[in-house]
Amino acid sequence: MIKKIISIDDLSLKEINKIADDAIKFSLNKKKIKKSKVKNIFNLFLEPSTRTTVSFELAAKKLGHNIININFDKSSLSKGETFNDTIATLVSMKPDALIIRDQKEFSPKEIYNNYKIPIINAGDGKNEHPTQSLLDYALLKKKFGNKKITIGICGDIKHSRVAHSNIKLFTKLKYNIELIAPDYFLDKKDLLRINKNISYSNSLDNIRNLDVIMMLRIQKERINKNLKSSVSKFKSQYCLNLNHLKSSPYLMHPGPVNRNIEISDQVLDTYHKSLILDQVNMGVYVRMACLEYLF
Ligand code: CP
Repeated sequence: MIKKIISIDDLSLKEINKIADDAIKFSLNKKKIKKSKVKNIFNLFLEPSTRTTVSFELAAKKLGHNIININFDKSSLSKGETFNDTIATLVSMKPDALIIRDQKEFSPKEIYNNYKIPIINAGDGKNEHPTQSLLDYALLKKKFGNKKITIGICGDIKHSRVAHSNIKLFTKLKYNIELIAPDYFLDKKDLLRINKNISYSNSLDNIRNLDVIMMLRIQKERINKNLKSSVSKFKSQYCLNLNHLKSSPYLMHPGPVNRNIEISDQVLDTYHKSLILDQVNMGVYVRMACLEYLF
């Protein structure tokens, strides 16, 4: 079967753990890079990115593969070519894999259905970002082993593809999940997910029992005009400060951070249990493991 990582649903728990374990071994220099045929990978990013695009490029190069970066402004999409024509053009060059970030939900799935090529979803609209979720898990596994931790996910859950993948993955792992958000950043769909392992709170004042607090980026580019005022409302009620962190949970954020909206400068610059840059670092190793999985 031609492999894909479009959604966390594409992976069994065994495959998720294999990717996480391989990434941990890569990070500890305990896994040799397999000699394999050089693959040609297209890295198509139609939305801005620093972490994901660079880490996929670095991961592919560390594995000895060719990777070609294609961004919106450097592609003929910016000259008016349609998305479907651009994809048909790229696929006709017979890449061994396509990594794609797109503002449209489900476009990686449509490409896979049409062309049956190995594909990794690097973020599709507000739907999913499975490799971010896998790197978050690899880092948590490195820290906590197989403990069923309690993790708070706070912020713009409604528009966050990271939250949507993480809620799926952490549910598979039987973690205890606490969603923390105002109602304007939470969809009914999220509320319906609330089961015995997922609870909901609208306040950061009660985060005493958390092993980890994961703050989310407010997805300004996906927020409609009516919700614009919610950013300042959110900031005044939920911007993480040192008082919220008295019980010393680990701190995560997928990045990029909107400073002083989701997390205060003081927390970002001084909090001793921040894992934010460790997440970025693990991103390279997880993407190496994902490429090995794909091939
Ligand atoms: N977390 C994440 O996807 O970051 P980038 O947008 O910088 O790739």
